[in-house]
Amino acid sequence: MEYSIKSGDPAKQRTPCLILGVFAKRQLSPLAQQLDRASKGFLQRILKRGDMAGENGQQLMLYDVPGIQAERILLVGLGKPRELNRKRYAKIVRSVVKGLNEGHAIEAVLGLGEVEIDDCTLPQAIRETILSAEESLYRFTETKSDVKKPQRPLKRLGLFVQDRRHLKAAQRAQSQAQAIAGGVKLTKDLANLPGNICTPSYLADRARQLGREHGKLKVRILDEKQMAKLAMGALLSVSRGSRQPAKLIVMEYQGGKPGAKPVVLVGKGLTFDAGGISLKPSAAMDEMKYDMCGGASVIGTLKAGLEMELPINLIGVVPASENLPDGDANKPGDIVTSMSGQTIEILNTDAEGRLILCDALTYSERFEPAVVIDIATLTGACIVALGHQASGLMANNEALANELLAAGAHAGDRAWQLPLWDAYQEQLDSNFADMANIGGKGAGTVTAACFLSRYTKKFKWAHLDIAGTAWRSGTAKGATGRPVPLLTQFLLKRCGQ
Ligand code: BES
Ligand code: MN
Ligand code: ZN
Repeated sequence: MEYSIKSGDPAKQRTPCLILGVFAKRQLSPLAQQLDRASKGFLQRILKRGDMAGENGQQLMLYDVPGIQAERILLVGLGKPRELNRKRYAKIVRSVVKGLNEGHAIEAVLGLGEVEIDDCTLPQAIRETILSAEESLYRFTETKSDVKKPQRPLKRLGLFVQDRRHLKAAQRAQSQAQAIAGGVKLTKDLANLPGNICTPSYLADRARQLGREHGKLKVRILDEKQMAKLAMGALLSVSRGSRQPAKLIVMEYQGGKPGAKPVVLVGKGLTFDAGGISLKPSAAMDEMKYDMCGGASVIGTLKAGLEMELPINLIGVVPASENLPDGDANKPGDIVTSMSGQTIEILNTDAEGRLILCDALTYSERFEPAVVIDIATLTGACIVALGHQASGLMANNEALANELLAAGAHAGDRAWQLPLWDAYQEQLDSNFADMANIGGKGAGTVTAACFLSRYTKKFKWAHLDIAGTAWRSGTAKGATGRPVPLLTQFLLKRCGQ
């Protein structure tokens, strides 16, 4: 959809539909009050008839409102003013956009920009509006043959901002939000593809394609031979159980000063996780096509960063592999040697994410990174701990952890920190190798991060476990595009924006 910031006299907005807010107990929002005056009290008279009290979720379409240029006015209920928070606002935007898209207006102007949302500034509200609108319009149709499109889909949404002093910030928020939404969409599209289409090679091709679209992105793909030369024994041990060759996708964007240390994002790109010889139960195993969401979010974040032309040096590294049972697959008890030289006893072949990530993390040393952030659907235990609201965050540097927590809160894409205390490390002790790949009962998310921490000693590092946040199950099954909003906000802040 196209977005623009609208300003001027609201009564003179020429649009098929102007959307205005009404709070509970028939309280018109300030902008709606202004239009009420222009229409000589028409809106108040309608409300007095009792068709709409302004309860959260109510909508009322009005035609031929006198004294204004808009063809229709859509009144939307905002509920009690004090209870209007970001989450509720996002839900209202989703339902309004969905309704307009299925209805008749091709264009609309949203006059909700300056209503006060509890935990949100105007630029944040604009970002939330665009991301929520895009979310409600998103359909994954690539693998369907009979797609019914709405007859007159919503094509243009203006965002009305009355106070001229806010215009610049609003416009900046708009273009940032569109870039972020583009990154979220790419992430979802890649993640929603099934494992038989989205293989490691396919993911590599899509990264190459992004490189062709953006001259500033250099993409290199390492094949298994090159990875063997680098002695990536942990990563390659996982892909040995699969007929699809592993790929290491390396994307480099030089938006910052030459020589400035880059931010390196490392994303788990496990295109299907059956568990390997430690086979997973079959219930909902289809959802393990989402085990590449970390990698997809790295690709999506790079796309957003490119579109915003961020003045930063940014590198994406995505180890991509399948995890399947095979005659040549890892077996419980096998010992492999990682690129770092440390040996690993594989006690459970289903703890494969850390095996591919550890070599990608060691590989990242060569970029002399400012910071490294890895993003992975790493542990089911993270869903037990935090559910589907927050991503799990662990880090070897508190300042970096705080930056990411703040970025998540700002973007409405929250993370929550778990401890990475040394005391947990002994759960990884092995009688036969330098470490085991699982930490036994208890704190599964933390021990997974402990494992990774042994490969990140040379730089500032944070780990985001997105097992609970990257996709939804049930009837709304699908990728969420998280944590692209968190990561892009982190990058924007680092660029001083
Ligand atoms: N990809 C899974 C983690 C996962 C599970 C994400 C469920 C989302 C939903 C990961 O590779 C895995 O299998 N982890 C194991 C680790 C265990 C064997 C220590 C897990 O969480 O069960
Ligand atoms: Mn697994
Ligand atoms: Zn996995």
